[in-house]
Amino acid sequence: MEFNHSFWDTMAERYPHYDDPAMQKDVQRVLAWAKSQGIDFSDRSLLDIGCGTGTVSIPLALEKARVTAIDLSRGMLNALQSDAEALKLCANLKSYQSDWESFPLTQTFDIVLASMTPAISQETHIDKMLNATHAMGLYVGWGRYKTNAFLEALMQAHDAPEKMSGGCIKVADFMHYLDTKELAYSYEFFTTSWEETYTYDEAKTYAAEQLARKNLLPDERKVDAIIRDFMHDETVKIETQAEKGMVLFSKYPSSCPKHT
Ligand SMILES: C[S@@+](CC[C@H](N)C(=O)[O-])C[C@H]1O[C@@H](n2cnc3c(N)ncnc32)[C@H](O)[C@@H]1O
Repeated sequence: MEFNHSFWDTMAERYPHYDDPAMQKDVQRVLAWAKSQGIDFSDRSLLDIGCGTGTVSIPLALEKARVTAIDLSRGMLNALQSDAEALKLCANLKSYQSDWESFPLTQTFDIVLASMTPAISQETHIDKMLNATHAMGLYVGWGRYKTNAFLEALMQAHDAPEKMSGGCIKVADFMHYLDTKELAYSYEFFTTSWEETYTYDEAKTYAAEQLARKNLLPDERKVDAIIRDFMHDETVKIETQAEKGMVLFSKYPSSCPKHT
């Protein structure tokens, strides 16, 4: 399990906020799909595990859900709180700093949500997610592929043992686990892409952080060569293309028909 606070605190400095257009596109797609499955978020109690900067929590609070948002990173939560304050959402958006494993579950929620978070990286984390709701949950994770030519070149040059997975349980594995519990769910996959732009120095920091996640030290010469390959007009452009998936599951098998 990933407990790397400092990695996520550093990521928080440039992680997209709720109003970032590329992020908004994916989040609105997920929420529209959930609504098409009959979910009304208004006045529902909702737990967002690994909420980050509030990319999903804030749109849900804007829809009048009563959101409890947890994350292990203080940096991410600071970003969420400052946006929540600006939007006057503090009455229905509470945030707590905690990792998912040690978060004390003192109540169950109408809806439990986890989106793109390594908080859900083992089956025991899914079990706790199931225990956190008396009704239903929404899981958003990686689908069948995620390509990022910069990261692939970086990892290959440093002989990293495996491809980047992002840490969270893949959607197919999440659904497989629900099958073993005989829980009903519906799901959909979609493709997405986004571009990040960095200065040379920022790209160097980004490369060092990504290597550190795999316990690798940067080879300065190799990193420099890769950055220069991706540099156009003094800007390093890094594009990611991926498939994401969303799963809506119910604790009551009959109320959420399963699509196969
Ligand atoms: C990629 S961000 C996703 C943020 C948001 N859910 C979204 O969909 O945009 C992953 C978040 O999970 C948090 N995280 C990672 N491991 C965690 C854990 N064990 N418990 C709680 N939060 C965790 C990180 O701090 C980070 O904010």
